Amino acid sequence: MLFLILITSLCFAQDDLERGKTLYNAYCTSCHTKDEKVVNLPVDKEKTEMIKVIRSGSSGMPTYSWLFEDEDLDKIIEYMKTLPK
Ligand code: HEC
Repeated sequence: MLFLILITSLCFAQDDLERGKTLYNAYCTSCHTKDEKVVNLPVDKEKTEMIKVIRSGSSGMPTYSWLFEDEDLDKIIEYMKTLPK
């Protein structure tokens, strides 16, 4: 039983990353990916801080509060963390 729960949650995690990837590729690569690497992005920051920047923007970074649910932001960030820097 425990095993089943574990498998299920792993599958969910995979779907979340896929979702994050789709959104990231659609909205963020134009500025944040160059030669397959992440640029302009200190991904080692706290997640809450990163969410704040994505929501409210900062120098050169557009505002995305109108576009994403918190849930999706979470997925995008998790995906970003898997990218090479
Ligand atoms: C128009 C270009 C552009 C687009 C599109 C863009 N960004 Fe950014 N982003 C930037 C720039 C430039 C910075 C650096 C800003 C700074 O140093 O203050 C930044 C900074 C960030 C940071 C904060 C890094 C930090 O800790 O200070 C995060 C997180 C981030 N972007 C996520 C995203 C996500 C997620 C998307 C897609 C939804 C996205 N960005 C789309 C240009 C962009």
